[in-house]
Amino acid sequence: MTVATAVDLGSQRLATPLVAASGTVGSVWEFARVADVSAYGAMTAKSVSEEPWPGRRPPRLAPAGEGMLNAIGIQNPGIDAWVRETAPRLANLSCRVWGSAVGRTPGEFARVASRMEAAGVAAVEINLSCPNLEDGRMFALDPERSAEVVAAVREQTAGPIGAKLSPNADDIVAVAEACAAAGADWVTLTNTISGAAIDVEGRRPVLSSGAGGYSGPPLKPIALRCVMEVASRLPGLPIVGCGGVVTGRDVVEYLMAGATAVGLGTVHFAEPRAAARILGELVSWCRRHGVTSVADLIGSAILEEDR
Ligand SMILES: Cc1cc2nc3c(=O)[nH]c(=O)nc-3n(C[C@H](O)[C@H](O)[C@H](O)COP(=O)(O)O)c2cc1C
Repeated sequence: MTVATAVDLGSQRLATPLVAASGTVGSVWEFARVADVSAYGAMTAKSVSEEPWPGRRPPRLAPAGEGMLNAIGIQNPGIDAWVRETAPRLANLSCRVWGSAVGRTPGEFARVASRMEAAGVAAVEINLSCPNLEDGRMFALDPERSAEVVAAVREQTAGPIGAKLSPNADDIVAVAEACAAAGADWVTLTNTISGAAIDVEGRRPVLSSGAGGYSGPPLKPIALRCVMEVASRLPGLPIVGCGGVVTGRDVVEYLMAGATAVGLGTVHFAEPRAAARILGELVSWCRRHGVTSVADLIGSAILEEDR
């Protein structure tokens, strides 16, 4: 039995529902040397800001339980160097590449996104899990602040844009709704959740920054809850579910919860070629259950009373 793997994320037809999550596959071109990129419907490059950001000092990565803590601080070379050195290397890849923009003001986000679009990316994801210059709070915690960024990016770009949100938001539906109204074509749910670990011998936090972002399998139920809430309350808004995916069955869960596509992040650190395995598992699951198109799974577990 043939299983169709293509999904439509708004106007974008993705060959598979798998999306490489930003920051976990480098700037894509390096990663394409080790892994088969044809398993992905899209691959997101790591986030880039207007000026170079140095990132935080080590230690900035640590295992914690079944997941991983990171406080990289979005180290990146800035958009000038990215356009000059990275963008030309993306042009010949046989996969759809998304850029990821960060900034400390709406204007910064918009300028970065517009440069990325001009450099040829297929879409731009807006990383709203980044502190606002005015109040130091993450944009993604606040519907109005998030919408200001999305609106600024929308004004400067013509192609698809997505808003990547935080599971730390009090009301993720309100943030997603504000982003959609401001012009986001999809929402990515979610980025890491804030977490910490203590080095008990040293009596200090394990990460140099104290707290950081927690990712991997323990994030899955939380991000999945965000997907379910947004999918049932905002039907029609395409969602990329992201958090803790390790198996094809995890992908099935996200699709059933209402995601159209599903991000792979931390799994890449242990298994760079995970996407091909996960896609194989997804297709096998569909075959075993008589599902001829993965798109038929989308939203199929949303409760009747929530529709
Ligand atoms: C080391 C590391 C770096 C990351 N860098 C970025 C980044 O630059 N931009 C971004 O939007 N998300 C970044 N993320 C978040 C991931 O894209 C993803 O949303 C998150 O890790 C949850 O998915 P996972 O549990 O599959 O890893 C990073 C995650 C990790 C672990």
